[in-house]
Amino acid sequence: MIIHASFFIQSVPPALWYTLDMSTGTAAAHPNIAFIKYWGNRDHQLRIPSNGSISMNLEGLETQTTVKFDNLLKEDMLVWDEKIQKGNALKRVATVLDKVRTLSGESRFAKVKSNNNFPAGTGIASSASAFAALSLAASCAAGLNLNEAELSRIARLGSGSACRSVPAGFVEWQAGYDDYNSYAYSIAPEYHWNLADCIAVISKSHKTTSSEEGHALADSSQFQAVRIDNAIERLDICRKAIIEKDFDAFAEVTEFDSNMMHAVIMTSNPPVIYWQPATLQVIHEVIKMRKNGVQACYTIDAGPNVHVICNDGESSQISAHLKNISGVQEVITARPGGPAKCINLP
Ligand code: DP6
Repeated sequence: MIIHASFFIQSVPPALWYTLDMSTGTAAAHPNIAFIKYWGNRDHQLRIPSNGSISMNLEGLETQTTVKFDNLLKEDMLVWDEKIQKGNALKRVATVLDKVRTLSGESRFAKVKSNNNFPAGTGIASSASAFAALSLAASCAAGLNLNEAELSRIARLGSGSACRSVPAGFVEWQAGYDDYNSYAYSIAPEYHWNLADCIAVISKSHKTTSSEEGHALADSSQFQAVRIDNAIERLDICRKAIIEKDFDAFAEVTEFDSNMMHAVIMTSNPPVIYWQPATLQVIHEVIKMRKNGVQACYTIDAGPNVHVICNDGESSQISAHLKNISGVQEVITARPGGPAKCINLP
């Protein structure tokens, strides 16, 4: 059974709490694809972004995470896809757990077990779904009853884009300027617009420059200041296009924003080029499709894979077309997804 975190805590009478293991929590969250991208931070530690962003959660793809606070542990422990993780991954998890411990008064270390339902190495970034699920699972385990904005802020501390995987459907992250006012909220529910994301997977290998490293390089590009200056205008156009379901306006601003982010990435010092030859092939095909009257547009994250956003009704035809492009290994289709959820395991 899947229920929202706040409902879970509120629906259990306090008298029955002792029968539940209140030090364990499990939650699930979807990854998301940004239409207006987050690239660069005003504050790297708190992940306060240089500009606001807009995204859509991806249904069907999911990270499930269980957190258990345990007084036998001498430090936090992370098991990711059945493997014990140390180093930066564990450090980022501990940052989120520390925030939950501060808010709840919980003093024990935790064991975190996390799994994706999409295989590692499909080129789909999982940090957004992972840190959204972690924030909710840890809050449930610590007995916190947080609202969506509070959860979104905590998720942001682990990975910026994770704050957008907490609310449902089409989501805006208001950049803000400090920890309190930088969080995400839903601008339209998942059933608002029947879009699909056909992800043309071009490489399954790990990217050489992580987004965390990329954010740190962003200000070294002369184009970043212009990109940030115009972000408010692009956010307004994109938000309006989503609310009015205006595909042409949506396509234009989404492709432009993705091109702008990659222009910054390619002109950073040192420059980073995430694209591969097949990336460009897909871009040209999508432009051709649109000229032929198909409603489709592209957007590319920090990697070579191309997300082709289209009307769901045309997604199987588009997916079949993309599979025929040389260099495309597979196409994964995802529709708009719901919020992060607490799972009440039997
Ligand atoms: C290109 O959220 O992965 O996907 O905060 O360092 O974890 P960290 O970065 P991350 O950056 C996402 C970059 C992007 C654009 C986006 O999703 O908005």
